[in-house]
Amino acid sequence: MRTTHAPEDRGPDTSETGLDLPELAPPRWNRHGADVAGASWFRIARRMPVLVGQAAALAWRSGPRDVVATALFNLGSGVSTAWALLATTSVLTELFAEVPTPDRVAAALPSLALLALALVLRGGCGALAGRAQARLVPKVVLAAERRLLRDATSVELRAFDDSDFHDHLFRSHTRGCDEAGALVRQTTDLLTSLVGIVAAAGVLTALHPALVPLLLLAMVPQWWGAAAAARMRYRMILAFTEGRRRKYMLQQLMTARESAAEVRSFTMERRLLAEFDRIARRELDIHLGLATRQSAVRLVGDTASGLVTAGVFAVLAVLLAQGVVPIAVAGAAVVAVRVAQGALSNALYAVAGVYESGLYFSDFTAFQDEARTRLPRPGLAPAPAGFERIELRDVTFGYPSGEGCALRDVNLTLHRGRTVALVGENGSGKSTLAKLLSGLYSPQRGSVCWDGTDLAGVDGVSLRERISVIAQDHTHWPLTARGNTVMSSTDCPERFARAAAAAQADSVVAAFRNGWETLLDKRFAHGVEPSGGQWQRLAAARSFYRGDDGDAVPLLIADEPTAAMDARAEHGFFTSVHRHAHRTGATVVLITHRLASVRMADHIVVLDRGRVVAEGSHTELMAGNSPYRELWELQAAAYRTPPVPQPRTP
Ligand SMILES: Nc1ncnc2c1ncn2[C@@H]1O[C@H](COP(=O)(O)OP(=O)(O)O)[C@@H](O)[C@H]1O
Ligand SMILES: [Mg+2]
Repeated sequence: MRTTHAPEDRGPDTSETGLDLPELAPPRWNRHGADVAGASWFRIARRMPVLVGQAAALAWRSGPRDVVATALFNLGSGVSTAWALLATTSVLTELFAEVPTPDRVAAALPSLALLALALVLRGGCGALAGRAQARLVPKVVLAAERRLLRDATSVELRAFDDSDFHDHLFRSHTRGCDEAGALVRQTTDLLTSLVGIVAAAGVLTALHPALVPLLLLAMVPQWWGAAAAARMRYRMILAFTEGRRRKYMLQQLMTARESAAEVRSFTMERRLLAEFDRIARRELDIHLGLATRQSAVRLVGDTASGLVTAGVFAVLAVLLAQGVVPIAVAGAAVVAVRVAQGALSNALYAVAGVYESGLYFSDFTAFQDEARTRLPRPGLAPAPAGFERIELRDVTFGYPSGEGCALRDVNLTLHRGRTVALVGENGSGKSTLAKLLSGLYSPQRGSVCWDGTDLAGVDGVSLRERISVIAQDHTHWPLTARGNTVMSSTDCPERFARAAAAAQADSVVAAFRNGWETLLDKRFAHGVEPSGGQWQRLAAARSFYRGDDGDAVPLLIADEPTAAMDARAEHGFFTSVHRHAHRTGATVVLITHRLASVRMADHIVVLDRGRVVAEGSHTELMAGNSPYRELWELQAAAYRTPPVPQPRTP
């Protein structure tokens, strides 16, 4: 591996990192790419009602009281702004009156007091509206996060084999939830500014109607600038989602405890860093280019806006010179223009903000839509409590991301209380068959039936509650040893003790300082890390324990449950499995490469490239010239062969 050079030394050599830059182009699921590319500020304005509506609905669901408070105090703030402007005009009129100065000041005092009161009121309303908004935003974010987690956990497992789904989930997860809060915050800001504008524009209209359109005109270039900059940024982020996901994965690999040992033993440090550098550099280049282009756009917008504002004041000067407006009105108009400009400027940032947040928020809603299409069918009947026979008829299954079928035309019958072993080479489809039997996937063709009830028509959750699984790659839950065994089942001390003893997990746990209450995660204080074999015993206890009150589940599936166990533990486990099947009447599906243990099974199914190639009892399969016999003899020979004499060293 050529990783001795700094990554800068090499060109974009994709062969080594497997990172092809075209992969970082906008991915297939980029559904709003065209929308974003073609967005003008007219389109932005047109989207506003929908976005504001979405924000209002979100806010209302999360905190209706705070929504009401926000609306009321903003209204109060607008009214006091208009009041303050009118009081300003009165003050100026009194001050410019053609009477001696002390009289003018005295005459202006009541209006000044009113002005002060209006300003205090405006400040108070603003603060209270701000408080309501600050209470609302975290509630909205929390509601969005909860919704995302609910969707992510309720979609069918199949979704997780699909990279499109991952992209949606990633974008929704990284920004979507926060942007739901930002959308509400920006929308409130927008409404606050709009109230200010309406107040100022109303007063301005009363002073001289010609000033209002001029004022609006002054803001058009700034609007364009802010919206264009936001659009550029979004386009970049959209285009780089895939790259960022990879960067995140690399970060995880380099910092996670699980991979820390292998990163070192396979000396992957440099290679991972080189890949990280390549992606990060590309991202940085895009960011830097974007910063320059955004600044240029803003500069053009601000300059144009400044020029038009100067024009507005020039028009005001002309009106004054021609005697169309008196000096007091002109003075008040300047104040009103400044107030309206401030509010309009805030409104424009808020509009750009609403638009930008709206785009990210649409990722969130897109994920919701995506998740909705992947939910299990609602209203299905609960699964039968048990079965006499499980029948697979012409079952064909392929993974969404896989090529071809992992299982093809599988016909199989499993009987209640019997132990069935699945054997076959790596990749022959054993785990896939186990996942279909456990109700995690449904076949694309054919059916899996419990006594004539097709599982495609039953509720998946209720089905999986009746099945216990030790997955090949079972999760090491960051819970206590007890939590790792009980999982979501109800507490039953008697069943717990039996399961722990049957899986020989009690002897594992006896060595822990806090027994069953020991946390099995080394990342936390007093946490311990069981060995691979110890984890498997705990996983076995978990599967024996699964059930409802006194009853164990009718189907237990164990996918290479003993691969990491020592010989004694393994023998103990298989004996326990048979005893468990006997005692509870459960059907056991066992996947293992230890044919000595397979021999104990009532029925053996041999898989090859997704097809059942032989089945029967050990004796039956050994009688013919089956692939099972071939495998068996291979393993048996390994034990029988006398040791090869070692050459002596002189
Ligand atoms: N999640 C998955 N997505 C795509 N292909 C998969 C997935 N899991 C397994 N496969 C493929 O399905 C085939 C059968 O795999 P599996 O059932 O795990 O085999 P076994 O357990 O017999 O070793 C293999 O070709 C494997 O590459
Ligand atoms: Mg497997």
